[in-house]
Amino acid sequence: MSFRFTSRALVRQFAVGSLSLALLGAFSPLSIQPQAQEARQGTAVADRFVNDLLQRMTLEEKIGQMSQIALNQKESVSPDERILRGQVGSFLFLTDAKEINRLQHLAVEKGRLHIPLIFGFDVIHGFRTIYPVPLALAASWDPAQAEEAQRMAAKEASAVGINWTFAPMVDIARDPRWGRIMEGAGEDPYLGSRMAEAQVRGFQGDEIGSPEHILTSVKHFAGYGAADGGRDYDSSYISEDRLWNVYLPPFEAAVRAGSGSLMTAYMDLNDVPGTGNNFLLHEVLRDKWKFNGFVVSDWESVQNLTTHGFASGPKDAAVRAINAGVDMEMTSHVYRDELAAAVKQGLVQQSTIDEAVRRILTMKYRLGLFINPYVLPSRAETELVTSAQRQAARVAAERSAVLLRNEGDLLPLKSSLSSIAVIGPLADSKPDIMGSWSLAGHPADSVTVLEGIRKRFPSGVTISSAEGVEIERGQPSIFDSQFPSPQPVLKTDAGRDAEFARAIALVKQSQVAVLVLGEAQTMSGERASRSSLTLPGRQQQLLEAAVATGKPVVLVLLNGRPLDITWASQHVPAILDAWYPGTEGGNAIANLLFGDANPGGKLPVTWPRDVGQVPIYYAHNLTQIPDAPDTRYWDGSSAPLYPFGYGLSYTKFRLDGLKVSTASVKSGSPLTVSIEVQNTGPVAGDQVVQLYTHQRFGSASRPVRELKAFRRISLKPGEKQTVALTLDTHDLGFWSPQTHRWSIEPGTFDLWVGVDSTATEHATFTVSP
Ligand code: BGC
Repeated sequence: MSFRFTSRALVRQFAVGSLSLALLGAFSPLSIQPQAQEARQGTAVADRFVNDLLQRMTLEEKIGQMSQIALNQKESVSPDERILRGQVGSFLFLTDAKEINRLQHLAVEKGRLHIPLIFGFDVIHGFRTIYPVPLALAASWDPAQAEEAQRMAAKEASAVGINWTFAPMVDIARDPRWGRIMEGAGEDPYLGSRMAEAQVRGFQGDEIGSPEHILTSVKHFAGYGAADGGRDYDSSYISEDRLWNVYLPPFEAAVRAGSGSLMTAYMDLNDVPGTGNNFLLHEVLRDKWKFNGFVVSDWESVQNLTTHGFASGPKDAAVRAINAGVDMEMTSHVYRDELAAAVKQGLVQQSTIDEAVRRILTMKYRLGLFINPYVLPSRAETELVTSAQRQAARVAAERSAVLLRNEGDLLPLKSSLSSIAVIGPLADSKPDIMGSWSLAGHPADSVTVLEGIRKRFPSGVTISSAEGVEIERGQPSIFDSQFPSPQPVLKTDAGRDAEFARAIALVKQSQVAVLVLGEAQTMSGERASRSSLTLPGRQQQLLEAAVATGKPVVLVLLNGRPLDITWASQHVPAILDAWYPGTEGGNAIANLLFGDANPGGKLPVTWPRDVGQVPIYYAHNLTQIPDAPDTRYWDGSSAPLYPFGYGLSYTKFRLDGLKVSTASVKSGSPLTVSIEVQNTGPVAGDQVVQLYTHQRFGSASRPVRELKAFRRISLKPGEKQTVALTLDTHDLGFWSPQTHRWSIEPGTFDLWVGVDSTATEHATFTVSP
């Protein structure tokens, strides 16, 4: 494990130390020109091309295509030598265009068969320009917004020669203790599916190989978000019906949207590791969904089949992974070391290897790598953190923020204010605003909340700032060597108390205090699970002391998961959840605080009051005592603090006139549901109209509500719009634990339309066979 942390840490260093050889003009892809000609034609030609290549490959060269190596992997043989020997098909973590071209040149000019490499990187929410984390993009409830953010991210990543991202992460997560909840779209399979397909479109473009786009790898297949206790890497136990109805739909949506590859999951799913899981990789992915892309393992997860106590040793691990359906091995090298012998011993069929290599080569072909394997180095110089990127990142951050509370319309803040205190450990922190998985981001590019507010008021307003408290992680982070976790600077209690007092004194001297609290960048993400959801460190005390001054306090949260803000929800008049908003976060937050932008985001997760409530989600079953669902615990409410789909605005909306196109619909046909929405408040704003259904009876109990359609709209003051949502009755189908199949069961359904999962506008309809 330690090696992988080193590699990640070295990404930046390597990127800086570029090699001089790298002018594109230095390379002439002459040797591949006949192939290139052919490569311009359709699939049949692709098949012929790949088959021809396969016939000329040795077993070792084939296995080479199935091996991905990470930068700075400590090995006896250098990466250059591996390329020349045909022992590598892909690299991950390279971000330097010149080095990418240099390695590509070795592969296509000096390699025996001139097969290009594919360069992968975790482009999760932006490359150099960091966009809001995926959970935040989901909070926009706007698939077009998520698509646009990933399109821009692909543009930047492709500018340095990256061909392939390990995204989107579509793991459903209903437990905010799990740190990776920030990488996905939250708890709901319908919202998650729409976000999954939107991100695939954004990254890949209209088709694989579109210029300035990159290949996706939907991950982590499957069930990673259900880790026991929210502990990262722990086993998931998911019933068959929940797997089909909740955890698999976003993967299926991404596959249908054309994701060119898929990544396996680390953990055991029902006691079978994701990377050796024949059921998932064969029965579901290939047989049922007809996925024709290639499958890559997660980091060292092939080798780790042994660590799991699943495979007996390296060879067995390699055999189990390839036979389960893993085409490419990430960073461990048991394929390279063991597969050839395994084939010779008959443990793996030659045809299985051919199939895996065919999929990988076909994807390289479709990406156009056989025609143009290089990147123009000038792109890297002109296309990173451009003003267009910044603008798009700012809009994405504005559209992702969720206004959780706004008592007495404290927000937007009046521009006539003469003094503002901007307080908190995250108020002026450049790395933290980017969030986790910002590997190619430069903190120096980030705009903090303090900077954003200062820019908004170039003169005349006193803006003071203090950290107030420090925060730290109890355990090291895997990203520490690149983005160090915050380390306390104040060494004594007296020093800490003085800083605390300084912050509160600034609050007292100001007309309003903006407290920027939450979690530092490395406190969310991989290996960043928590056993509590409290504000880390003494942030809660700081907040309470600020409120106790009697000054109006606005709480701005920077976070990758719901945090325990139950006290704040009662005592802090305004709460804006900005998530980790990315490079332009400070400008976006300033715009939101002062009303240049109006919050319209909605929660993609149910927000618990207390960690003891998790896992908590809105789509639970009715049970035999559906009344008073908030009384399930004798020592506190079992209702969430904020429901799924919730979020306020600076304006008000009225919804009425719910209409359903027909009271009875044939299974498989659509239904149109419409409602009138009017902006009755003083400013323009966005609203997300949400449609939920409930199947009253059937072969299994169905959730009390399930999201089945939504649309985000913008309305000017006074403007009215009829929003028509199509309810596809296919979406009413489910996998029944009694019939062991998926079907739409005829019967009576409830339907609600509103602005969160507690929507009250109600109708019923029936579905006939
Ligand atoms: C993560 C993956 C990621 C890979 C490469 C793993 O630890 O689980 O999501 O794509 O590393 O960085």
